[in-house]
Amino acid sequence: MPSRSMLSSRSAVASAPPNIALVKYWGKRDESGNLPAADSVSICLDGPRTKVTMVPSDADEVIWNSERLAEPLLPPYQRVLDALRRPPHRVRIGVTTSVPVAAGLAGSAAVMAALAVAAADYFEVALGDPALSALARCGSGSAARSVPAGFAYWHRGALADGSDSFATSIAGPEHWPELRLVALFLDRERKLVSSTVGMRRTAATSPLYRRWVEACNEAAPRMRDYILARDFAALAAATREQAMHMHATCLTTQPPILYLSRRAVALLETLDTALPTDSWSATFDAGTNPIFLTLSQHLPDLVAALEELAPGIERLVARPGKGAALEAGQPGDTP
Ligand code: PMV
Repeated sequence: MPSRSMLSSRSAVASAPPNIALVKYWGKRDESGNLPAADSVSICLDGPRTKVTMVPSDADEVIWNSERLAEPLLPPYQRVLDALRRPPHRVRIGVTTSVPVAAGLAGSAAVMAALAVAAADYFEVALGDPALSALARCGSGSAARSVPAGFAYWHRGALADGSDSFATSIAGPEHWPELRLVALFLDRERKLVSSTVGMRRTAATSPLYRRWVEACNEAAPRMRDYILARDFAALAAATREQAMHMHATCLTTQPPILYLSRRAVALLETLDTALPTDSWSATFDAGTNPIFLTLSQHLPDLVAALEELAPGIERLVARPGKGAALEAGQPGDTP
């Protein structure tokens, strides 16, 4: 471990993408390390990335798009830092992101994945991708899947210390360049029930929770096979079933959690009659905004249908993208 004086002139810069889960992470076997109850599968997006810069400071602080985060929001960042540092190392973390966080694109995943990569560089700890993924997981569970490139499989692991709970790449982004993801920002409100509270309540009160966990562990290896075979029809059906299973499970909690909106569900109902079912799919995280999947040849039809059904609503079109990576630091990067 380097000394404080050695670190005082250091800085580190890394970036990471958001990821969209096709098999969802919704339930923890251990809350302190964000250890999941089940395996999950996702795709990193190639568009928006989140950049994290790190420089020495007298006290830990996070400056998010020029605004200082309040003290109570620091623990997830400090869990990542504490895994690598010894007191008295304190840092100032700068976060710049174009990921629309309130829109439910799992913005914390990109931040914590970039933070893990930046922190390993800053504290000069050599970590391979699995260890970086496990480190990112300490800040936010889904961040484990924003470390590897392209299509990621998060192995739930069984060890109490979480060292076997990390994501690995099923295939890089070049494996399926025709795949497209379309996020539709119907609603920019923050979710009413945070994912941490939602997962806790689901595990504690839903009569469907046990079956949900089994279903994820069955679906994840199947989803990996559909990705490897580039079987879009099978992937489309399984993605939608998984998302609806998660939201049905949420609805059976006490009190019930409803993330979906009538408007979003009605949109899917109409699309079902307008487009061939094997040409598109949709998933929802803990929010009301659908994320559609399609292939490049079907994208014009999907976009035209969305424009007709939700005119003027902002969309983000992305392809599978690379994972978290160090960036060359520039003087202007200092937060
Ligand atoms: O934001 P986190 O890491 O607590 O988890 C969010 C989980 C979902 O986005 C709702 C689903 C998923 O697997 O990404």
